[in-house]
Amino acid sequence: MTCRIHPSILSADFVNLEAELARIGSADAVHVDVMDNHFVPNLTLGLPVVERIQTVSPLPLDVHLMIADADRWAPLYAGAGLASVTFHAEAATAPIKLARELRARGSKAGMALRPVTPVEPYLDMLGELDMLLLMTVEPGFGGQAFLDVTLPKIRRARAAVDRSGARVAIQVDGGISASTIERAAEAGADVFVAGSAVYGAHDPEAAVERLRALAQAATRV
Ligand code: DX5
Ligand code: ZN
Repeated sequence: MTCRIHPSILSADFVNLEAELARIGSADAVHVDVMDNHFVPNLTLGLPVVERIQTVSPLPLDVHLMIADADRWAPLYAGAGLASVTFHAEAATAPIKLARELRARGSKAGMALRPVTPVEPYLDMLGELDMLLLMTVEPGFGGQAFLDVTLPKIRRARAAVDRSGARVAIQVDGGISASTIERAAEAGADVFVAGSAVYGAHDPEAAVERLRALAQAATRV
């Protein structure tokens, strides 16, 4: 399994995003957190800004939609040509239909679960997804502490993905740092979002490389 690191620009300087993107050249993609102050108690940016980021980003965009009414909004993001669009299962009324719509518009389809949302009801739809995002903090803010209580769910999801034979990445997001990434990797995650651990570092590129090496070493073959 290859471990990928997606820095979150939530912890970057929003006034200098183009320069901030240039500081993470060693990353595999850039994670963009869209929040609407309804699904989560925080507000970030919307589609026009995401589209503009895409035009200047050397890396593909991995957009994490923390917004209500995902059925309505997520397809518009996919239609903008983004590499990957992730909606929250809790915010979608028809997740299978929505995942198909994202793929039909040319994006990879991701589905996210809050820490307490069980993965089991969604196991039969793994084949509809390119990525399953298991939140390792409550969504809404960067800089929170990793929730170890999510580790058993990551293990169950990894076992189910391997059983299904579907090519579904398991992404973790929240509190990922040099002191937590090994636990998440050992449990079965293979895509790691890190905001403060990358942009809070003196050398973000080196931080990405260190995180990837730690994850890779902890990954079961
Ligand atoms: C939180 C966001 C995360 C956030 C992670 O709701 O989804 O992507 O940027 O930040 P850290 O890595 O600082 O926990
Ligand atoms: Zn995120």
